[in-house]
Amino acid sequence: MVETFFGFKKTPFGDNPDGKQLFASQAWNQVKARLQFLVEHRGAGLITGEVGSGKSTAARSFTAGLNPNLFKVMYLHWTSGSTLDLLRQLALELDLEPSHYRGDLARQISQAIVRLNESKKQHPLLICDEAQLLRPPALEQLPLLLNFDMDSSRYLTLLLVGQPLLRRMLSLQMHEALRQRIAVHYHLEGLSREELDAYLAQQLKAAGVTQPLFDDTARQALYQASKGILRKVNKLALTALRLAASRKAALVDETILLDATTEALL
Ligand SMILES: Nc1ncnc2c1ncn2[C@@H]1O[C@H](COP(=O)(O)OP(=O)(O)O)[C@@H](O)[C@H]1O
Ligand SMILES: [Mg+2]
Repeated sequence: MVETFFGFKKTPFGDNPDGKQLFASQAWNQVKARLQFLVEHRGAGLITGEVGSGKSTAARSFTAGLNPNLFKVMYLHWTSGSTLDLLRQLALELDLEPSHYRGDLARQISQAIVRLNESKKQHPLLICDEAQLLRPPALEQLPLLLNFDMDSSRYLTLLLVGQPLLRRMLSLQMHEALRQRIAVHYHLEGLSREELDAYLAQQLKAAGVTQPLFDDTARQALYQASKGILRKVNKLALTALRLAASRKAALVDETILLDATTEALL
């Protein structure tokens, strides 16, 4: 077992790091600053990045720090991508009984959003994750939801999160209205080479091990295979540690790391 072989108190490079274990890379700090700007100034924001770069984690960890008396966070994770589905899910998040018809639904939703702001003094923040899965009509619906700021106070903040394709979708003429609303955009890249070293050390330390377990060549190979994309880093690092333990090697070297790359299907 990898835990007993290396003396880990808990398994490093897990899928669900707790808030305290999140690594504050430069990109991470940049996303946070933009999200902070977004909730202060409202409007719409966009986070893009490769699969596994940490988009959803950044959005969730940021919103977890918001005061729930002041913000109602609604997190939508799309599957079907239709407008009706979008509106129904939003209605449910707003604790409404969704109407059957699109027009009624949209009206219900805008009324509830105004009510939240005015009566409960709570500002709704809508997060659409994997937004590249929304079909064009559903994306076109979004600026309409942002559109009832009659007295210039903004009633809804929208955060779109998605893969790089989303950026290309938004550049189409038909999404001009939505694109114009986007006040902040950040494209999340992987960790830099130096950050990767710091991340490995942080993860091992959290698992109770302070000596390095990856030699220089292994760290370089890990960077090349993962480009610093966190989910790939985690998968590859843990696979390499497992392989090392099975071979009774105290240190992961390039050979083990490359074998792990094949095994981890990267
Ligand atoms: N700042 C971070 N520190 C440590 N692990 C992270 C961090 N951000 C993301 N992760 C981990 O990386 C993996 C991918 O993150 P996720 O947010 O699901 O990526 P995405 O939404 O871009 O596909 C998850 O296992 C997550 O726990
Ligand atoms: Mg995600």
